[in-house]
Amino acid sequence: MAQDQAKLSGPDLTQGIALGELADGGKLLGHAGDEQVLLVRRGTELFAVGAQCTHYHGPLVDGLVVDDTVRCPWHHACFSLRTGEALRAPALSPIECWSVEQRDGKIFVREKRERTATMARMKASEKAPNKIVIIGGGASGFAAAQKLRRERYQGSIVVLSNENAAPIDRPNLSKDYLAGNAPEEWVPLRPDSFYSENHIELRLESNVTGINAHSREVALADGSKVPFDRLLLATGAEPVRLSIPGAEQPHVHALRTLSDCRAIIERAKTARRAVVLGASFIGLEVAAALRARGIEVHVVAPEKRPMERILGPQMGDFVRTLHEEHGVVFHLEDAASAIDGNQVSLKGGSTLAADLVVAGIGVRPRIELAERAGLTVDRGVVVNAYLETSAPAIWAVGDIARWPDPYSGESIRVEHWVVAERQGQTAALNMLGHRERFTAVPFFWSQHYDIPINYVGHAETWDQLAIEGDIAARDCLLRFKRHGRVLAVASLFRDIDSLRAEVTMEREVAI
Ligand SMILES: Cc1cc2nc3c(=O)[nH]c(=O)nc-3n(C[C@H](O)[C@H](O)[C@H](O)COP(=O)(O)OP(=O)(O)OC[C@H]3O[C@@H](n4cnc5c(N)ncnc54)[C@H](O)[C@@H]3O)c2cc1C
Ligand code: FES
Repeated sequence: MAQDQAKLSGPDLTQGIALGELADGGKLLGHAGDEQVLLVRRGTELFAVGAQCTHYHGPLVDGLVVDDTVRCPWHHACFSLRTGEALRAPALSPIECWSVEQRDGKIFVREKRERTATMARMKASEKAPNKIVIIGGGASGFAAAQKLRRERYQGSIVVLSNENAAPIDRPNLSKDYLAGNAPEEWVPLRPDSFYSENHIELRLESNVTGINAHSREVALADGSKVPFDRLLLATGAEPVRLSIPGAEQPHVHALRTLSDCRAIIERAKTARRAVVLGASFIGLEVAAALRARGIEVHVVAPEKRPMERILGPQMGDFVRTLHEEHGVVFHLEDAASAIDGNQVSLKGGSTLAADLVVAGIGVRPRIELAERAGLTVDRGVVVNAYLETSAPAIWAVGDIARWPDPYSGESIRVEHWVVAERQGQTAALNMLGHRERFTAVPFFWSQHYDIPINYVGHAETWDQLAIEGDIAARDCLLRFKRHGRVLAVASLFRDIDSLRAEVTMEREVAI
């Protein structure tokens, strides 16, 4: 406790600060008792809320106040300043709120307010279904189940997952957890008790083999059936498997699940040289994590520059240099042709020694269930603005969903954590009878050593790339434009600009 006290920043807000110290629209970091508090002034209104984001503890004082919300600078979670409610993923828990008093030209933070349960948007009505089944215990499936309960849905929720672990923080599998910097207890999204306390029937190792959209039931591999009134398809994606000779050996891995990650960590304990196949986000995050474990890492990939297709040539060169500075050796414009014991042969003719091989060569949406059930599929499960599939009472979200993105005007499918969670939340509302469009602007982040890359929007192609700032100095904002319109923005340490870009795009959609 004494240590915590010592770390507190800013003034003691219970003692009051002069009103003039907080400009209209301003934020101020202080403390009340032993807790950090963010004070926000908006016109005549004052708000005092917890200063840290409930996702990864991002500093909300560095975030953006938009109307009566504050957005986190790190991964764009959004909280209500009035209630503390986490309005948008990736934060799923509220922040604390304090009462504020204004007296004699001073602002005082008073007692912490009781946390009130979320205001359900409707009372438990006849419209609410009795039985909601969610196929998939990942980002979107979990976010949907949690949202249903936060909306005070009283009916049954069954989550069917063919994983052997309860929903996890999947992005961590290629970052701190794999690097050995985060304990395994950080990986589950919620403790096991969460599911029983919230009456969410989480059935692990339950493989769904079929959906009957007419009789409204799903079939499981063990022969049992589960009926539903509303069904959410949240089956995510699976890694593209290597199809070269030697790919089945025990030291050759893909990374999607906690079991995959544990197996890589086990191997990494004794490995000295690793070959990572693929130079996109997961491959390069794995490379960084293995370097943190002191393993020699070689990255083999067909492209000329890592991540060029998504981030452009300049950022691609930066990412390559960044990894090289950390000791990664690239073998670009090449590919593995075979793995024979500890030897990885490349098409270019060279051979690399490796006692650990990790393939990060892309993912494929798991759409087979949807296809077999006769749902409309087009490189993903096609959904409308409400995330409804072509079959009544069935919604689809996350990595499998192709939805009409109002900002780009295109039907898009992305593989982003935050999008999957937000879609899960929107689908949850709509399964309860609301009509909420999914209009969030896509967002993703990726972490390489101490450098986070944030990306807002979606640009599959662009005709102009405007760079503001200095990429090498790790202080930049890249705007990807088509016909003069900004489609997406990537940034290094320009969090506020990234948040502002998100708001600008959202407002364009709202018009
Ligand atoms: C290692 C790694 C790191 C990542 N890092 C980032 C990042 O930094 N930033 C970012 O934006 N995104 C990141 N992603 C992507 C992100 O994790 C995904 O976009 C997100 O998990 C998609 O959520 P989802 O719910 O669609 O699918 P998933 O989270 O994959 O969940 C799908 C679930 O469905 C289950 N399932 C599938 N088929 C069946 C079936 N027939 N029966 C029962 N259950 C089934 C699966 O087992 C799984 O539990 C990362 C992904 C990985 C693998
Ligand atoms: S730390 Fe705030 S959104 Fe991730």
